[in-house]
Amino acid sequence: MTLYLAAPRGFCAGVDRAIKIVELAIAKWGAPVFVRHEIVHNKFVVDSLRDQGAVFVEELDECPDDRPVIFSAHGVPKSVPSAAQARNMTFVDATCPLVSKVHIEAERHSENGLQMVMIGHAGHPETVGTMGQLPDGEVLLVETVADVATITPRDPAKLAFITQTTLSVDDTADIVAALHARFPAIIGPHKEDICYATTNRQAAVKAIAGRIDALLVIGAPNSSNSKRLVEVGRAAGCAYSQLIQRADEIDWRALDGITSVGLSAGASAPERLINEVIDAFAARYDLTKEIVETAVENVEFKVPRVLRVPA
Ligand code: F3S
Repeated sequence: MTLYLAAPRGFCAGVDRAIKIVELAIAKWGAPVFVRHEIVHNKFVVDSLRDQGAVFVEELDECPDDRPVIFSAHGVPKSVPSAAQARNMTFVDATCPLVSKVHIEAERHSENGLQMVMIGHAGHPETVGTMGQLPDGEVLLVETVADVATITPRDPAKLAFITQTTLSVDDTADIVAALHARFPAIIGPHKEDICYATTNRQAAVKAIAGRIDALLVIGAPNSSNSKRLVEVGRAAGCAYSQLIQRADEIDWRALDGITSVGLSAGASAPERLINEVIDAFAARYDLTKEIVETAVENVEFKVPRVLRVPA
């Protein structure tokens, strides 16, 4: 069996920073530290932070006034920090800086009199957070090329678009093309807002897709970027592309007779889980590992200043 390891894979700089923020907050203020929404979409990460003293809630209403609260890497609508401020709470925003950049873009365009179109997945916390930078109803959401035909902007000549950071690069390019075709004056980012980590992980999966009979992507079912990696694998010709959370979810019977498997992981999946899967393969097969590296990542984000100084 040959295992093709897509690189880059797994943790991105935004996830790494968000996890550090929770750990440093617990070290600084003691437990419990509340976290609004899963800090990143990975059960293993969430469980291990819970063991250290983090309490995960879905809404700010569930947090007491006198304990610190962290906002997840996906970003939050403006109303959330405002409500925390009004309650005099200590809060730290773990929104990935690349998501915050999109928030700022949306505000800037809106100040310039442009209505925003957001390409994203309805209900995903990042989409909710980004759309929530502007008043309700200001941002038009499109999820598919077909949606582009259905939106009714105030003035088709005054539009700009932004995107979720974890979308499929190829699908988004099609949606952007449809937006340009219907609204020639629409303004957008130079490249879509899809982040470096999403782009690199999709490119690495494409690079191995031609050599493998099956693809396993380690990631959570609610992780947008992980689900996109599975789709990219399928679109690139690897019919058996599966999302798994851990090694015990591998369907070994489905791999019967297969001699080359690709392995990747979403941006919120820790390397420990990747090693667990590699070990499970090594325990069953005479294993050859091949690393296929399509990019080298050196991105690092600083934690907020409040956590850089001791209590
Ligand atoms: Fe940020 Fe991209 Fe990771 S937006 S959290 S670097 S997947």
